[in-house]
Amino acid sequence: MGTPLIPEGCRLIEPAEDMAEEYVAYAQEFRDADEPFIQGELDQADGDAPSLIKQWRDHAAAPNLPEGIVPCSRYWLVRGRRILATSRLRHRLTEALEDDGGHIGYEVRPSERRKGYATCLLAMTLEKARQLGLHRALLTCHVDNLPSRRTIEKNGGQLASQGISKRSGQPILRFWMDLRRAR
Ligand SMILES: CC(C)(COP(=O)(O)OP(=O)(O)OC[C@H]1O[C@@H](n2cnc3c(N)ncnc32)[C@H](O)[C@@H]1OP(=O)(O)O)[C@@H](O)C(=O)NCCC(=O)NCCS
Repeated sequence: MGTPLIPEGCRLIEPAEDMAEEYVAYAQEFRDADEPFIQGELDQADGDAPSLIKQWRDHAAAPNLPEGIVPCSRYWLVRGRRILATSRLRHRLTEALEDDGGHIGYEVRPSERRKGYATCLLAMTLEKARQLGLHRALLTCHVDNLPSRRTIEKNGGQLASQGISKRSGQPILRFWMDLRRAR
């Protein structure tokens, strides 16, 4: 299995304050699709996208985070200045993340789904995990989230266990991705 091709004109960038307006439009699309989890972050930041973006950058490097919060890097998959998808790479696991959440989370803008972006974004985020020095990465998804399961499997994820998430009470799958293997 090779790394999926990067769609033409796409690149992975770190969140940038000068794209705050585009991020607000991106988040709004999730709200319009009745998927409020992304918009929720923005609401918590009182709609202040530039501050939220700065906070994320600090969060990736912060030496003294509150108990239970681990450093996390964020990435945007963009085409030109349009944000297509976002990912979060948590630098290490906690007991809670081992149960549900894992190292990496991601989502694709509703209007850009089924074009291979998640597959590509996950491959690029796994490369970042490798560069961070991780030898393997844990990914989790809800049992009924077939698109996410396929995205993980297409990137080489091996089903390790299934159980009931302590956070959501929903059945989830846990996959390990081997980052040492030649890809
Ligand atoms: C899961 C998600 C990221 C997939 O994004 P995407 O860009 O549409 O995925 P891709 O185009 O890369 O497709 C990946 C695989 O899933 C399949 N797939 C995508 N959407 C699907 C759907 N609605 N039904 C069935 N299969 C689907 C694709 O066909 C592909 O598999 P294939 O190559 O075997 O055909 C996207 O649906 C999303 O953002 N969902 C909400 C957030 C979420 O669930 N995040 C993951 C949390 S664990």
